[in-house]
Amino acid sequence: MIIRPLTVFERENVRNFYLSLSEDDRRRRFCCTLADETISKYVDRLNFTRDTILGAFDERAQVIGLAELVRGPDQSEMAFSVRADRRGQKIGTKLLERLILRASICGIRKVFVMFLSDNTPMRKMAVRAGMRVETADGESHAALELQSPNAQTLARWLVEEGLSQGKYFSTLGAAHLGLLADRTTCAVREPAGALTPSA
Ligand SMILES: CC(C)(COP(=O)(O)OP(=O)(O)OC[C@H]1O[C@@H](n2cnc3c(N)ncnc32)[C@H](O)[C@@H]1OP(=O)(O)O)[C@@H](O)C(=O)NCCC(=O)NCCS
Repeated sequence: MIIRPLTVFERENVRNFYLSLSEDDRRRRFCCTLADETISKYVDRLNFTRDTILGAFDERAQVIGLAELVRGPDQSEMAFSVRADRRGQKIGTKLLERLILRASICGIRKVFVMFLSDNTPMRKMAVRAGMRVETADGESHAALELQSPNAQTLARWLVEEGLSQGKYFSTLGAAHLGLLADRTTCAVREPAGALTPSA
């Protein structure tokens, strides 16, 4: 699995990912039920420069999870979503770790995440990351104060970011090569079919 920050050119990947979520997953991610149009408007407003949108990608360079960090004046909000068929494989946990690392490198001093109080996986992720969880009126709020990054944190971030970008683009290249190979096979077959005289 590869985790890397998305660029503004990948907005449609984010839209497709969120639109593919079930009604219940949308409720868990956004803490309310959202129609397609509202999700689409939300994606239109995402700021890829000020904020961070991390993507988790599979071996075919497809998005299987997203994590967002939206900057605020005193604290920044995080949010997570992993594709239903890939849950329970620590993808959420890895996204959270990388997002916290990224926030620390960006000089953010406090992060938080909001979730419905019955959201056990999100609660476990937050607790494991050392976040302080408070619950009221069916919603939970988990917060973490961040330390200033030291040389070791910086080095870890540089290595992880560099490796993941390299791995992603080689995976993407391989996926495209596979696609080209498929097309070549089709291109050979199609004329043969088209030239076959009908009975
Ligand atoms: C929350 C979410 C991102 C977690 O992603 P994930 O990849 O499944 O998470 P992980 O595999 O890292 O598991 C996190 C923890 O939850 C536990 N867990 C996973 N699925 C579980 C389930 N169905 N029931 C109970 N615990 C579960 C894991 O064992 C792990 O706990 P541990 O660290 O103590 O072992 C995912 O469930 C999701 O996309 N939910 C919908 C959106 C959402 O709820 N977002 C949160 C609000 S922003």
